[in-house]
Amino acid sequence: MSLEFNKIAASVLVAGIIALVGSIVATHIFDTNKHNANINIATNAPASGTESGDAPKGPESIMALLASADIKAGQDVFKKCVSCHTAEKDGPHRVGPNLWNVVGEKVGTKPGYAYSKAMASHGGNWDYQTLSDYLFKPNAYVKGTKMTFVGISKTQERANIIAYLRTMGDNPQPLPDASATAQPVATPASVPATPAAQG
Ligand code: HEC
Repeated sequence: MSLEFNKIAASVLVAGIIALVGSIVATHIFDTNKHNANINIATNAPASGTESGDAPKGPESIMALLASADIKAGQDVFKKCVSCHTAEKDGPHRVGPNLWNVVGEKVGTKPGYAYSKAMASHGGNWDYQTLSDYLFKPNAYVKGTKMTFVGISKTQERANIIAYLRTMGDNPQPLPDASATAQPVATPASVPATPAAQG
């Protein structure tokens, strides 16, 4: 009998303690939440301020950089590609197609290479801009391409490697109008600009 009573008393006591502890914990969590919220509000303001000042995510244009790009450095960047590509004339296809003449060529048209559907049906030409966009993020520019390469985020590196690829062809494409960055140095010798007026 007294045993029964003790059991009941004990369980009432335990329930009370649980309730008490529970309410303390609850208050404590609530308090720390409030506290954290205040801290977040305080630190977020300057943080979001710097974020909004960051550069945009898309690829920057390489056009202004091409004329003065470093072909040697571009050849070095091409080391990222050699596990899958050759670039020399009559080089074999590897995992990816041989890239001789690729600058200026139609997308996905190297004879004897089995392109993905995405690449084969893409259309257009590989000019400086499209190559740059593709190499920035291959899978974003040609969705579904089987070229599993993360891309080159550095604008100068893309300019250098594309300047290098430009030289790996039978008739290197003219560089984009570089009048903004450089003036043509040579004037044709056979066409005198102004006849010598003094005798
Ligand atoms: C892991 C292997 C791999 C690497 C690394 C790689 N590629 Fe490719 N590349 C491919 C494959 C595969 C294709 C064919 C894509 C398709 O058919 O979808 C391709 C296609 C291309 C094409 C299109 C060719 C055409 O005929 O239309 C270009 C241009 C190209 N790659 C350039 C590069 C350059 C430049 C690099 C280095 C910065 C590089 N790739 C790195 C595998 C690779």
